[in-house]
Amino acid sequence: MSSTNQQIDGPRGCQEHELAPTVDLLNLVMRRAVGLPPTIGSDYPHVYCAGNRENMRIIKMGGRVVSHAALFLTENKVGSRSLRVAGLGCMVTHPDYRHRGLGSAVVEDFVRRMTELEADVGWLGTDIPDWYRRLGWEKAGREHIYKLDRGNADLLPTVEGYEVRQDYQSYLEQMLTLHQEHPFGTNRSLGLFKLLLDRPDTDRWPQLKTYLATRQEQLGAYVVVSGKEVVEHAGRPEVVAGLVREVFRREDETVVSTSERDDTGAPVLDASLLVHTPAADDGLSGVLAGIGIPRSESYVGLLRIPDLARLLNKLGLDEIEVRRHEDGVVLTRGGESCTLSPRQQVKLVFGPERVTDFAADLFPVPFYHWPLDYI
Ligand SMILES: CC(C)(COP(=O)(O)OP(=O)(O)OC[C@H]1O[C@@H](n2cnc3c(N)ncnc32)[C@H](O)[C@@H]1OP(=O)(O)O)[C@@H](O)C(=O)NCCC(=O)NCCS
Repeated sequence: MSSTNQQIDGPRGCQEHELAPTVDLLNLVMRRAVGLPPTIGSDYPHVYCAGNRENMRIIKMGGRVVSHAALFLTENKVGSRSLRVAGLGCMVTHPDYRHRGLGSAVVEDFVRRMTELEADVGWLGTDIPDWYRRLGWEKAGREHIYKLDRGNADLLPTVEGYEVRQDYQSYLEQMLTLHQEHPFGTNRSLGLFKLLLDRPDTDRWPQLKTYLATRQEQLGAYVVVSGKEVVEHAGRPEVVAGLVREVFRREDETVVSTSERDDTGAPVLDASLLVHTPAADDGLSGVLAGIGIPRSESYVGLLRIPDLARLLNKLGLDEIEVRRHEDGVVLTRGGESCTLSPRQQVKLVFGPERVTDFAADLFPVPFYHWPLDYI
C-alpha cells in the first residue's frame, strides 16, 4: 500500500460510530454510482449491522472511511461434512482513493481475519475476477441453471394433492428442517432465515416471494423466487418440481405483449424462469435433466483457501501431507506429490477443472452456496 501525506488507519474492524459512514460509502459506490437507490442496508441486513461490525473491515484516511470489505461467516454443508465459509461482500474503495493498494490491503486483511475465525474457505461473487486472482482467489464449484419457458414448463410434474400457498411464516420451522435436510446449504438460525426472506423489494432482490406446497399442515416443498429466478428450494424433488411448475404459471405475465420491444430494442416480455441448483445434487436437477430441460453451467464463485492442511483435515483427507513452499504448498500422498499455488489449490479441491492428476480419486469436492445467501 502506498503512503501519502494522509495517515492510513486500518485495515481493521468497523467501530460503532463508523457503521453509518461505512454503509454510506457502500451505497455511494454500489448503488448511487450506478443510478440505484441506497438499499445496501436492507439488501443485506445481516451483514452490514452492529452484530457483524468487527467483520466489516475498513481503512480510513484523514478520518474518512475510504475502503471496505465485509466478512459473513456461515457453516456450509458439503454432503456429509460441513465447512466454515467466509463470504466476502461489498469490496469498495472510494473513487478518489483508488489505485493506491487500499483495496488489495483490505482483501489481505480479510484473509487474515478468516484465518483468525478458523474459516476453511473464502467465497465471493464478482465480475472482476482478475483483480482478485492477483490475491490468490480462483473460480470454482459448479452450479446448474435450468431455463423454463412457456414451451417446456408444462412438462414438469403437477403438484397434485398439495396446496400451494405463500403464508410462509407459519411454516418457517418446517422450511428450516427441509433446508437442513438438503445435502447442500448453510446452517441458518430461524431468525436469519426470516431476515433473508423478508427483505423488501429492491433492484437486488426484486419481488422476493416464498411459495410452499403443503398437505394437512405438513410442508412438502418450498421455492423462493426473486424476479425471474428460483434462488432456493428444498423438499422432495418431484414435489419441488411440481411447485416450480405452479410458480411459473402464477408468475407468468400473460397480459404482456408478445411482440412489443422497449427503448433498447429488447422484447418487453420475458416469460422465463431460471432455476439455480447445485450441480452435484441429482434431486431437482435430476428431475429437470430427465425431462431434457436445457441448462447452463456456471462457477459458484471465487474461492480462497487460507490453510489447505486444515481444510483437508476437515474433509477427512488426512492421508495427504501438506508442506509449505515458497510458491504455495507441496502435497504428498503415497508415492505422488505436487506443488500448488493458492489458486491451483482451489481448483484441485473444488474443481471443476483438473489442474493436476494428484489424488484424482478424491477431488473435486462439491461446493455450493444458494443464491439466497449471496452477499
Ligand atoms: C475494485 C476496487 C475495490 C479496487 O480498489 P482499489 O483500492 O483501487 O484497489 P487496488 O489499488 O488494490 O488495485 C486497483 C489497481 O491499482 C493497482 N495498484 C495497487 N497498488 C498500487 C499502488 N500502490 N500504486 C498504483 N497502483 C496500484 C492494482 O494493480 C490495480 O491495477 P489494475 O486496475 O490496473 O489491474 C475499486 O475499484 C472499486 O471500489 N470498484 C467499484 C466496486 C467494485 O467493483 N467492487 C468489486 C466488486 S466484487
